[in-house]
Amino acid sequence: MDKKLRRAVIAGNWKMNKTPDEAVALINEIKPLIADADCDVVACVPYVDLFVAMEAARGSNLKIGAENCHWAEKGAFTGEISAAMLKAIGVEYVIIGHSERRQYFGETDETVNQRVRAALDNGLKVILCVGELKDERLGGITEEIVRKQTKVALANVTEAELANIIIAYEPVWAIGTGLTATAEQADETNGQIRKVICELYGKDAADKIVIQYGGSMNAGNADELVARYNVDGGLIGGASLKAPDFAAIVKAASK
Ligand code: 13P
Repeated sequence: MDKKLRRAVIAGNWKMNKTPDEAVALINEIKPLIADADCDVVACVPYVDLFVAMEAARGSNLKIGAENCHWAEKGAFTGEISAAMLKAIGVEYVIIGHSERRQYFGETDETVNQRVRAALDNGLKVILCVGELKDERLGGITEEIVRKQTKVALANVTEAELANIIIAYEPVWAIGTGLTATAEQADETNGQIRKVICELYGKDAADKIVIQYGGSMNAGNADELVARYNVDGGLIGGASLKAPDFAAIVKAASK
């Protein structure tokens, strides 16, 4: 199928950066630069920035997301935020299963699946992150790793619900390191993820699902990455905190 039938999504993952005032300033800087984007554009921001970010983005083509959510609707989970809470304040997207959550906060494929379920049940759009560690790539087991992560994360997810899922392939060794996967590596692994979707849901679903690349994507390498058949945009960390850089990536995905 023609790649042009999938609309690319460029999403910023601000991680633990920007106070509410700083968030508003950055969004106001980003908005005019991406007004003509021919792709979807999202900024995933810290919880405390969500309200002001949504207000600042109102009326523009910038959509706002959170960086995580809990699987329970409410209860004794100190420090957590539920998908229902995000939905209640009007958040549209949520990142789930980021490697930093897996690495530092004990996320497993199973808890990722529970969070995905909760997000879908609450009508949120999910950016589901998968990706291998450096040793796993060197050991030649990248495909096995992303296959398992994808399959477990999508347990009990229907084909219809897949319309609300974006997958972000983020090789852990490329995150924040300046080491980007080559366009060939990104295309190959994204293709392997698409193959899993084909096995689980059929060719139509596999042709339609948006699969991003993430990991040191920037204004200089975005063109080459997003030109690949299986790379439908990106999940951007560091470069999403600089409006001109983020806008340049959006421009690359709009071609
Ligand atoms: P960097 O773009 O800073 O490498 O981060 C990628 C990332 O983790 C996005 O979720």
